[in-house]
Amino acid sequence: MTPDELVQLAAKARKLAYAPYSHYKVGAAILANDGRVFTGCNVENASFGLTCCAERTAVFSAVAAGAKKFAAIAIVTSNGGSPCGACRQVLREFGTSTLVIMSRPKGRPTAALLGDLLPGSFGPEQLR
Ligand code: THU
Repeated sequence: MTPDELVQLAAKARKLAYAPYSHYKVGAAILANDGRVFTGCNVENASFGLTCCAERTAVFSAVAAGAKKFAAIAIVTSNGGSPCGACRQVLREFGTSTLVIMSRPKGRPTAALLGDLLPGSFGPEQLR
């Protein structure tokens, strides 16, 4: 699975976004270390605070299928936006070395390691 292929899967997932309030559609595709890919989109709610981001939809889907180690996650938005703090923290639970690829539907992606997007983070090690 190349980074470009992962971006394409995130772009496809983005088309399923339910974003009638913000109109900001987000798609995510997360690559587990075992090679499986899980996708997600943002799911908004009339009670705005209940909205779930695309990244968390993808991570929770992966964990529910038994995948907890992630090589990379691709996120596609209209403007190449980066994951929110809540999603960074949820990803961080499973490691700091996940590559975060951010992209527009078409165009050159940018990438950063999760640990660089969330420096000095709190994680499960601190509860041991
Ligand atoms: N959103 C995501 O899906 N991921 C992020 O990392 C940032 C924000 C969604 C939530 C909401 O549906 C819309 O984008 C606007 O905030």
